[in-house]
Amino acid sequence: MEKFVIKGNTRLKGEVTISGAKNAAVAILPATLLIKGVCRIDNLPNISDVRIFCEILEELGAKIDWIKENSIKIDTTNIDCTSVPIEMTSKFRASYYLLGALLGRCGSAEVGIPGGCNLGARPIDQHIKGFEALGAKVDVGQGKISAKCKNLKGTSIYMDIVSVGATINIILASVLADGTTTIDNAAKEPHIVDVANFLNSMGADIRGAGTDVIKINGVKELNTSGTYSVVPDQIEAGTFMLAAVASRGDIIIKNCIPEHLDCVTAKILEIGGNVEDLGDSIRVWSNKRPQKATIKTLPYPGFPTDLQPQMGVVLSIADGTSIINESIWESRFQYTNELNKMGATITAQGKTAVFEGVKSLSGSPVYATDLRAGAALIMAGIIASGETHVYNIEYIDRGYEQIEQKFRNLGANIERVSEE
Ligand code: EPU
Repeated sequence: MEKFVIKGNTRLKGEVTISGAKNAAVAILPATLLIKGVCRIDNLPNISDVRIFCEILEELGAKIDWIKENSIKIDTTNIDCTSVPIEMTSKFRASYYLLGALLGRCGSAEVGIPGGCNLGARPIDQHIKGFEALGAKVDVGQGKISAKCKNLKGTSIYMDIVSVGATINIILASVLADGTTTIDNAAKEPHIVDVANFLNSMGADIRGAGTDVIKINGVKELNTSGTYSVVPDQIEAGTFMLAAVASRGDIIIKNCIPEHLDCVTAKILEIGGNVEDLGDSIRVWSNKRPQKATIKTLPYPGFPTDLQPQMGVVLSIADGTSIINESIWESRFQYTNELNKMGATITAQGKTAVFEGVKSLSGSPVYATDLRAGAALIMAGIIASGETHVYNIEYIDRGYEQIEQKFRNLGANIERVSEE
């Protein structure tokens, strides 16, 4: 087991380069199962969720060659659809994409009930509703989900809830289905557009990704020999933007798409920070205490739940009382107990947390309760006085590539050490 040891009181300054998006990568990898041949994926974040996904694909028969640190060649010519390792799939959330992808490729799929960060109840009824509408028979029981259909048929599906995972999963299942599938009330996150762009670049016919109506015209097969580069990670970029404000620093965040971060930019300006759009990078700086704010997390283009804990760190030291309303995950305020150990004054109840801003935080042992909470605690350690030890960092390694190196390049004093 490892932990981060952070000596605080640092103003972050310098440049950081953003990696490929985790939540696009963990959908594009299973999407390769729809191709019978070889493709190359660049800008793949080298994080533990991606490495586990590659191992699962290899168990299924894919041949994966890491050509460079962030590029793979993947050959999915020979896939044995029956050999999904159940214990591996139940370790993380995105394994649910194997259902859509294998249903599309082989007409049947069986995976362990997806695990992942503990953010409260994480139902997948909308995924199941979509597969059933396409003609599949879905069974859930004994820790597994199985879906079967020899001949998926395009249809219209209205999503009761805006769901990133269900939208992508239905796209995966319908790319090779007969006829046209329409998804109404689809999620619009940049990674949905990226998965659709990847599949279209391989010969799929998906229209409207990025809007709330997506049409998928089924095609007979996908091309092989394509190359695709994963979109930059909007959440990683947002994490460094908020770290610049929290630390009263000055950071140029390179390899990002500023439009994907408009809602974060708007909030940073509102609380007194500065943001400059430099095309494919963003400069964020601040030299004063942030002002209070009210935040409500929403599906894209609203303020992302995956940046809520990082914004929580900023508001914990803001001038005045701030409120965050979390509308996506019921247990995403667990990090507030950890921030309170560092001197914050946050009261969280149900979907709402009230932040009575304090002037500064002080170092403490703290425990990451999920991936984004972990990133937030690193930020808190960097701005706090004294020393902070962040435990449970395996959560952070799931989704941030070389996070300590990136913060160190910005001046942070952070070390990864083995726990005694
Ligand atoms: N929901 C249902 N039924 C479903 C699906 C979702 O009720 O069938 C509900 C969920 O309980 C939640 C809301 O709908 O309240 C949205 O869930 P969504 O399906 O959009 O989330 P997800 O696909 O499970 C992805 C990201 C999460 C991110 C959310 C929201 C991946 C692998 N995960 O999860 O990322 O928080 O979208 O944007 O893409 C993270 O990266 O730290 C992370 C947790």
